[in-house]
Amino acid sequence: MTERQEIILSGVRPTGRLHYGNYFGAIDRFIQLQEEGHCCYYFIADYHALTTITERTDFFGQTLEMLRTYVACGLDPARSVIYRQSDLPCTAELALLLGMVTNIGHLERGTTYKDKMTKLAETPGAEGNPLSYGLLGYPVLMAADILIVKADKVPVGDDQRQHVEMAMDIAQKFNHRFGETLKIPAPVSREALRLPGLDGAGKMGKSEHNTLDLLDDPATMLKKIKAVQTTTDPLPLEVESDEPDIVIPRMPSSLGVLYRLLNLLAPEDVYLDFVGKYRRGEKFYGTLKTMIAHHVSAFNAPIIEKFNAPGNDDDFIMDFLGDNAKKVTPVALNTVEACRKAMGIGHYLHRP
Ligand code: TRP
Repeated sequence: MTERQEIILSGVRPTGRLHYGNYFGAIDRFIQLQEEGHCCYYFIADYHALTTITERTDFFGQTLEMLRTYVACGLDPARSVIYRQSDLPCTAELALLLGMVTNIGHLERGTTYKDKMTKLAETPGAEGNPLSYGLLGYPVLMAADILIVKADKVPVGDDQRQHVEMAMDIAQKFNHRFGETLKIPAPVSREALRLPGLDGAGKMGKSEHNTLDLLDDPATMLKKIKAVQTTTDPLPLEVESDEPDIVIPRMPSSLGVLYRLLNLLAPEDVYLDFVGKYRRGEKFYGTLKTMIAHHVSAFNAPIIEKFNAPGNDDDFIMDFLGDNAKKVTPVALNTVEACRKAMGIGHYLHRP
């Protein structure tokens, strides 16, 4: 007997250029799940992107560039259903319905919302949009994304875990009040890797300007890697294990980034060799950097090539976005209809 196919859903905000943090925190997992043959829904959360804008942004252009990179990395729009959130506008309708069972207090306790509040309080009058109804409702919209396709599992990084839990909670409340209607999803267990930035900061991020990008050419790569701070002396590791998760946190943070990259990209013996050098306090930063630059360039080369391949153009992206939106729409409308019925409005007399 074959197992029922699992329904996987995840979303990413349109940020344009993608970096190694995006790749090793999400894209590699998306591809792995696709290869395992699950029913994968991956979408670009452009409505969500609107919750934090301060000025008009070309989200459409950023979406196209991002998806060309996704395809170059191995996501296949014929096997994974890749779509744009705004091409599934009934998500907004479901969010509206779910809003009826969502407690404001619950939303106000959300960490993303609280962080934004703190930031605004620290810099009164600074640019940044005021706290909006849209931002407060971010988790409700995210719940709608997840519940609308009846997802079993939602692979997300740690920073989004609370949002998935809120979605589970909202679905439970709905079912409790209106009868079993929505499938309760689960976050996926494997923790996403949080890649630090090249400056050794907590996280590689576009707005932190500390990224290694998937489309960087070899010269850019080399320049960025050479610029990583390595003046700090090695700290004694004080452990025998060479496991990256054990030794890397014991290194000065900017060196940790280099070792993380080496571990992700180079053969294991190369990684182990450099851990040995580190332990013995040898002078090796120059060779380490050249070695990493070599491996990241080799990693990027096929991605850059596929990104620029003739078939991978904006028309191709727009075509599959349209096709996939068509594929997911009946699934989504089915959920919205069920919720409308459960709540007592009844089905659509005219389907959009
Ligand atoms: N909030 C997510 C992020 O910032 C993106 C997102 C929107 C998402 N809707 C989702 C992720 C539904 C998983 C499931 O990364």
